[in-house]
Amino acid sequence: MCGAIATSYMKRKKMEIINSVKELKAKVSALRSDNKTIGLVPTMGALHAGHASLVKRSVRENHATIVSVFVNPTQFNDKNDLEAYPRTLFADCNLLQRLGADFVFAPSVEEIYPEPDTRTFSYPPTDTVMEGAFRPGHFNGVCQIVSKLFMFVEPDRAYFGEKDFQQIAVIRAMVADYTSQGATWAKRLEICPCPIVREESGLALSSRNTLLSINEKAIAPNIYRVLKESVDFSKTHTVEETQQMVVNQLNGIEGLEVQYYNIVNAITLENVTSWDDADHIQGCITVFCGATPIRLIDNINYK
Ligand code: PAF
Repeated sequence: MCGAIATSYMKRKKMEIINSVKELKAKVSALRSDNKTIGLVPTMGALHAGHASLVKRSVRENHATIVSVFVNPTQFNDKNDLEAYPRTLFADCNLLQRLGADFVFAPSVEEIYPEPDTRTFSYPPTDTVMEGAFRPGHFNGVCQIVSKLFMFVEPDRAYFGEKDFQQIAVIRAMVADYTSQGATWAKRLEICPCPIVREESGLALSSRNTLLSINEKAIAPNIYRVLKESVDFSKTHTVEETQQMVVNQLNGIEGLEVQYYNIVNAITLENVTSWDDADHIQGCITVFCGATPIRLIDNINYK
């Protein structure tokens, strides 16, 4: 169970920074022979309070917590986006030490990909709709890195933020696939989704928020405001009317442009046409903000 509480294994031990897969595996095997549970928090760094909430939870629920900090090139389909991605390893390590993480795994690209990863992952429709449609290859890259991390660490629990709602669905599909192939690490692993952490303005925390200008920061909170309003609106309107309401309201704000707003079955990510189509329904949005523009994602639960 994600909710179980473990007594922190190495509370008073200094956090260790690991750069090689060999050393990571050695640490993991020492923990395992000591019967310690391991929580993994995969990140691309530029850590914020959203990541901190994942790490805190892992520290609470496992004997040892490993946080990976790796800007994974294979999940970027835009070279400029990869280059612009903020890299703040020193500050990240300071934060992780304070949060009680035990190990930071911060490898180089060559360490993770000594040769090109040619594996392909395909879990339609979870990885073909929304982000999958607009960022071809993105989820393949996510599966490449996350599966490697899972195989290196064989964690008991792995923590992901619900801001990347679709990513969690794809990772769940990948783990189910490995489980059906008999992978022992996949059978043991529990995926733990954690709620979105927001700025006071309502803007979902994201490493990309640091790229927003003052002006863009002022308009970006409209995304969550409109999503929240749409939940009330949905009680007296159809799925299509609710979808249109969100798109029209946001596109009516100068500096915002909706790339997609899909109201989907929260498990399969297929579009729903009626509120009775699924037990759990989520609205998933991507909005371009400002002139650059910065691509912001968010989501909201309808039921
Ligand atoms: O969500 C992220 O930051 C990344 O997609 C992840 C899961 C760390 C894989 O690189």
